[in-house]
Amino acid sequence: MTNKYILDIIYLIASVTFIMGLKLLSSPQTARRGNLWAAFGMTLAIIGTIAFHVGEVKSIIYVLIGTAILIGSITGWFAAKKVKMTAMPEMVSLFNGMGGACAALISLLEFHHNVGNSSRIGVIMAGMIIGSVSFSGSIIAFMKLNGTLKKSIRLPKYNILNTLMLLFVSGMGVYITMSGTDSMSIVFFTFALALLYGVMFVVPIGGADMPVVISLLNSFTGLAAAFGGFLYDNQVMLTGGILVGSAGTLLTLVMCKAMNRPLYNVIFGAFGEGAAVAGGDKTKGTIKDITISDAAVLMNYSKNLIIVPGYGLAVAQAQHTIHELEKLLEERGVKVKYAIHPVAGRMPGHMNVLLAESSVDYSKLVEMEEINPEFANTDVVLVVGANDVVNPAAKTDPSSPIYGMPILEVENAHHIIINKRSMNAGYAGIDNELFYNKKTSMLFGDAKDALTKLITELKTMN
Ligand code: TAP
Repeated sequence: MTNKYILDIIYLIASVTFIMGLKLLSSPQTARRGNLWAAFGMTLAIIGTIAFHVGEVKSIIYVLIGTAILIGSITGWFAAKKVKMTAMPEMVSLFNGMGGACAALISLLEFHHNVGNSSRIGVIMAGMIIGSVSFSGSIIAFMKLNGTLKKSIRLPKYNILNTLMLLFVSGMGVYITMSGTDSMSIVFFTFALALLYGVMFVVPIGGADMPVVISLLNSFTGLAAAFGGFLYDNQVMLTGGILVGSAGTLLTLVMCKAMNRPLYNVIFGAFGEGAAVAGGDKTKGTIKDITISDAAVLMNYSKNLIIVPGYGLAVAQAQHTIHELEKLLEERGVKVKYAIHPVAGRMPGHMNVLLAESSVDYSKLVEMEEINPEFANTDVVLVVGANDVVNPAAKTDPSSPIYGMPILEVENAHHIIINKRSMNAGYAGIDNELFYNKKTSMLFGDAKDALTKLITELKTMN
């Protein structure tokens, strides 16, 4: 067997591990294994590529490749180890930006080797433009998420401006391809415009919509990498790129569907910005506070209890504390489950990942459709740092920006305890009529602090 065939088989194995990895990522039980399989496939593809091209380039190139791999691996390893769960979208955005930058740089480097071959130049231009947009867009998304860029900047008529810019950049790509030009200055000009377009594309979008945007940019990076695969006739790069591209697109659409917002509304809308929006005044009423000891009594004497975790639980890093509370209640004969909303938190599967971190039994995590009918027969619902995902306005108020989003129907339970720090709105920036419901009691305070006090109180009770 020639080296070429052996390398093809290695690429095939690597591609299969990518697909297996994606499949395993679909459940929290197997997600870690999925990641490892895909990482194994990628390592195999890299080693295979280097090993089967030994002698084809100067040895200094291998030293440079080795150094780059070492720097990348060490940085990536430490960043992933150190990152807080709440900062995960930030990290994904940064890593995604690096992928886009790689695709764009490859295109820039390959340009002058391929002048005169219009089909290859077309592929190069597509990789360069999409990769650049993904890179600069991801960097802006990163800056928005980590707070460096706080405001959404909207130029007058920014939608029209952005569309014109996109048409112009694409037009430049077509011109370079069709004209056969060898001018690097035109290529660099197009590269700079594509970078600028990436900035202009993301800068007007609200910070809270960044997870959806990052997923979209992720699909761009996948596409740019796939063009690299075409260019080098490299199957594993092509398969990997296509998988990332399609998975990113599907994830974007799934997130939009779960929020009941079309993608154009995420990209062009001003969701949740400017505070008290629709429904704000309509729901004002009286709220009822509950003390830690009263909440503990209510929970202790309930037969069944459903915990609704939300973004605030992640912010407070209270996943271990909630698990401790759950175990304590179970020991006292209370049947406890967690209700998982598909877009609770700020990233897909946020609550699953968070609770898996504290080793909550997966069988206790119940998806929205399955748990909704159970609320009517539930003694107590404990909502911890969740807001929009339990807001009945999604069903009752057509003027609400979340109208139509499926919610956890906690208002059907006998008693509702809501833990949050204040009456502040959540992601959608709207008031929540659930807080004024007669069955609702507000337990104000930081989630970790309140849950710790509940545990202490419960331990003093018989
Ligand atoms: P939110 O509606 O954002 O509400 C979170 C609540 O947590 C806030 O009202 C906040 O109130 C409270 N909170 C913050 N820090 C806290 C702390 N330390 N202790 C206790 N409470 C705290 O969250 P949700 O119900 O999880 O809904 C998620 C929202 O994000 C949805 O609108 C969804 O569409 C959107 N979204 C989700 C995703 C994905 S993929 N998950 C992506 C983009 C957008 P206080 O400030 O008063 O404490």
